[in-house]
Amino acid sequence: MKYAHIIGWGKYVPSRVLTNHDLERMINTSDEWIARRTGIRERHIADARETTATLAFEAAARALVVADLHPSQVELIIVATSTPEYIFPSTACRVQDYLGAIKAGAFDLSAACSGFVYALDMAAQAIATGSVRNAVVIGAETMSRVLDWEDRGTCVLFGDGAGAVVLKGSDIEGGVLASTLRSDGSGGDLLSLPAIYHNPVPTLEPEYFHNGHKHNTITMDGRQVFRFATQVIADSVNETMLKAGLRLEDVNLIIPHQANTRIIEAAAKRLKVPEERFYTNVQLLGNTSAASIPIALCDAVSDGRLHPDDNVIFVGFGGGLTWAASAVKWNVTPPTVSRPRQEWRRARYVYARGRSKIKRYGRRLGAWLGGSPTPDAKMRDIKKKP
Ligand code: UT7
Repeated sequence: MKYAHIIGWGKYVPSRVLTNHDLERMINTSDEWIARRTGIRERHIADARETTATLAFEAAARALVVADLHPSQVELIIVATSTPEYIFPSTACRVQDYLGAIKAGAFDLSAACSGFVYALDMAAQAIATGSVRNAVVIGAETMSRVLDWEDRGTCVLFGDGAGAVVLKGSDIEGGVLASTLRSDGSGGDLLSLPAIYHNPVPTLEPEYFHNGHKHNTITMDGRQVFRFATQVIADSVNETMLKAGLRLEDVNLIIPHQANTRIIEAAAKRLKVPEERFYTNVQLLGNTSAASIPIALCDAVSDGRLHPDDNVIFVGFGGGLTWAASAVKWNVTPPTVSRPRQEWRRARYVYARGRSKIKRYGRRLGAWLGGSPTPDAKMRDIKKKP
């Protein structure tokens, strides 16, 4: 059995910032209300050219630089997301293509805001059993695309971004020590995002409503989710510590899903740990769902909140309902990668995109020469038929 260590981390958030004051001009809300009830002051919003996959790629590319791992060595890519562009191809497959990770398996994982912790555990298990030697685990979201921007109860809460870690197997004890994964589908209606094909009608009626909300947008019973969150953070942290053989005093930092500073305060009180032991950055990013924990991890590292041999706990909660926690020993110091080597890596990604385009055009040319109609031509033929 190998130990799965985090050896690289990276984040990417879009450059466009939407402040509470901007929201005041869009809907009936106030900076004072949002900041007091949630702690959030601003969030980042993807521009028209950015997608969940491009944000995920940027975060993964940065994590691979820290890990000093070449994309062609990557064996598994998991993207935790609730906002994929496509059901298939998965966001993970698009990231695999952008990276040029030619030897990687890739799939998406859906567990809402708990998704990153679920994915981390899946990857750690695959490494522990020897199924793969390393993995890139990404949490990425474009929440701005699934919000009803007239619903002040939800649209002020979320933001876009991506965070990634690279895991690698090692004989050195440590890394991902233990995880707890839980779910309760009976609470599915408390926080949901109906898919576009949930009902055949919405394609014909763009203003179709589901449970009183615009179709294909997030609906949430905030108060119930709040109560659920404070309870499960404490429960899953306690259970995970027990499995990992840790006591509360052994835990240096808890990185919770970033939804609301009041949830974090309540969970700290319930666990009887000082609030300072919880890391928060929700103020500047809002709730980025599956991306929030890996982004917070990157910020905690750059803020100097994690040191070699620290024990850190990730804890997520969200739609499903799902919740999950992982205890990690932070005991691998990353190699410092020189600037020229980093630039060389960036150049490889441009090459990967070029290679992918050539393959795609090659396939089309082969089909055309072989007399097979292209998908577009097939569609034209179907439409022509009486
Ligand atoms: O990652 C997914 C997990 N999600 C969460 O963790 C979210 C958990 N829930 C929460 O964080 C909180 O419940 C919210 C921040 C969503 C809401 O805070 P709350 O203190 O529970 O407010 P509330 O929903 O009970 O609403 C209180 C009042 C209502 O007005 P009335 O009925 O008392 O007159 C709302 O209409 O605040 C009003 N309100 C707002 N006012 C100004 C709701 N949203 C807004 C808003 N601006 N954006």
